[in-house]
Amino acid sequence: MRRLVPLLLAGFALIAAGCEKKSQPSPTETPPSTAQAPGGDVPGTPPPPANSGTLLLGVATALTGGQATFGISTRNGVELAIKEANAAGGVKGQKVAMKVYDNQGKPEESAQAVSRLITQDKVLVILGDVASSNSLAMAEKAQPAGVPMISPASTNPAVTEKGDYIFRVCFIDPFQGFVMAKFARETLKTANVAVLQDNKSAYSIGLTEVFVRKFTEMGGKITTTESFSQGDTDYRAQLTAIKKTQPDAIYVPGYYSEVGIIARQARELGLKVPLLGGDGWDSEKLFELGGSAIQGSYFSNHYSPDNKEPRVQKFVADYKAAYGGVPDALAALGYDAANVAIDALKRAPDTSGPAVRDAIAQTKNFPGIAGTITLDDKRNAVKSAVVLKVGDGKAEFVTTVNP
Ligand code: PHE
Repeated sequence: MRRLVPLLLAGFALIAAGCEKKSQPSPTETPPSTAQAPGGDVPGTPPPPANSGTLLLGVATALTGGQATFGISTRNGVELAIKEANAAGGVKGQKVAMKVYDNQGKPEESAQAVSRLITQDKVLVILGDVASSNSLAMAEKAQPAGVPMISPASTNPAVTEKGDYIFRVCFIDPFQGFVMAKFARETLKTANVAVLQDNKSAYSIGLTEVFVRKFTEMGGKITTTESFSQGDTDYRAQLTAIKKTQPDAIYVPGYYSEVGIIARQARELGLKVPLLGGDGWDSEKLFELGGSAIQGSYFSNHYSPDNKEPRVQKFVADYKAAYGGVPDALAALGYDAANVAIDALKRAPDTSGPAVRDAIAQTKNFPGIAGTITLDDKRNAVKSAVVLKVGDGKAEFVTTVNP
């Protein structure tokens, strides 16, 4: 199984990347889009002017690599929102379209993709990314260019601190870290917790810092903090060191690609305590990679598809019909981010950067799938979180925690 995964991912990368040069972000387009004139090189057929009659949203996210399910879900969510908006008449009679670049889960590719979206494609709003390290690199390009950017799912506080054009529709990690510290301490009644963090990820480092502080404030003890780097495949040395400290649980604020393998290796080494994590675990691949080793572990997240609210259930049904699977939090947040952008375009007096920026900033009580969105003066959404328990091929809803 461990050998199968890189193969699967590599195979997928090939399919998704097609004939694109691997070193560049590969664009994919969803019709209707006029970002590139179709048939523009046919003699005598003048290409239509870029963006004629179409409002273009730019997406930079991972369609290949170790964060691929994040990006694919995000893209699907954005696409679904656009389809629905167009079916309902578009924005002031104009159609909405998207241009997507694969950032391969890398900050450098993310920055490059945003530069292209701005200079070449002339998008009105940038949507992305999921991993905070990628969004940080993107914000550095979007902010000076004056193009509004909405991250659907990046939770590291520094993302929106990059400037007044950078927004997010999710909660931030000072809250998310508190949620799991409280759950570990009060619900699971753990006293001694070890931490295993990804030292290449702004998200993982930030979440570790908050969890350690909160858990300690609540009277718990951190037995040790060990580190790995994204893409590692052998975690036995760290897990052996952790085992010696006899923790009641292990906090692993990483992404699914690594967490699944960590769970297996922990069990192989005889570490039977639950693993605890954050939203980065959210992927259908977690169940495949972690198998029975990850079952019984808990993670904080943005939403549960089991939420009975009619608008959530409608979204789940529509998404299933379109893409054939239960939407994860990324799909819900991608959908929400696109809808916030579309709503702002409807309210903005014109499509200039400042006008759209101001309209996004005024988002209040917006009915999202992953909670109601009101943007605060730091351009973050203040929302509740859920705690989920990993079951057999599914994450089960446990509780909601309000800010
Ligand atoms: N919050 C993570 C980050 O900032 C990304 C993420 C969000 C991953 C939601 C999965 C689900 O890096």
